[in-house]
Amino acid sequence: MALSELTRIELIESALQATERAYAPYSNFKVGAALLSEDGKIFKGCNIENSTYGATICAERTALAKAVSEGSTKFRAIAVVSTTNGSELTYPCGICRQVLFEFMPEAEVIVSDPDFNYKVYTVSELLPFGFKL
Ligand code: THU
Repeated sequence: MALSELTRIELIESALQATERAYAPYSNFKVGAALLSEDGKIFKGCNIENSTYGATICAERTALAKAVSEGSTKFRAIAVVSTTNGSELTYPCGICRQVLFEFMPEAEVIVSDPDFNYKVYTVSELLPFGFKL
């Protein structure tokens, strides 16, 4: 079922809070994500960069790893926001789309700017024909 406007705004607010923890000394590009589990828990994540660059983990995957490792595997939505991209929306990268597809292909992806201007997609819309074993 689609999320209410209020729930979406709350999730974006949590994603905004998560950007404050972003560790992004190389790109200076701060991203926050907030993942809503089916039982109503919110897991926040930020991007965590590394001097080897390739070992960087995106905000979305940080949130998902926190959730799964704490026992949540069913989700309703994820909000994604960057505070260093102006009014441009920040869309999940290809790797994150595939990782989200594994757990929540029909869940909402709420992509927002810091002023709560947002668009809503499903993971499957962002990743048609995602890989499945
Ligand atoms: N980044 C995310 O955290 N999520 C995305 O969906 C796109 C990219 C991060 C990774 C890196 O720390 C920075 O943004 C610039 O690529």
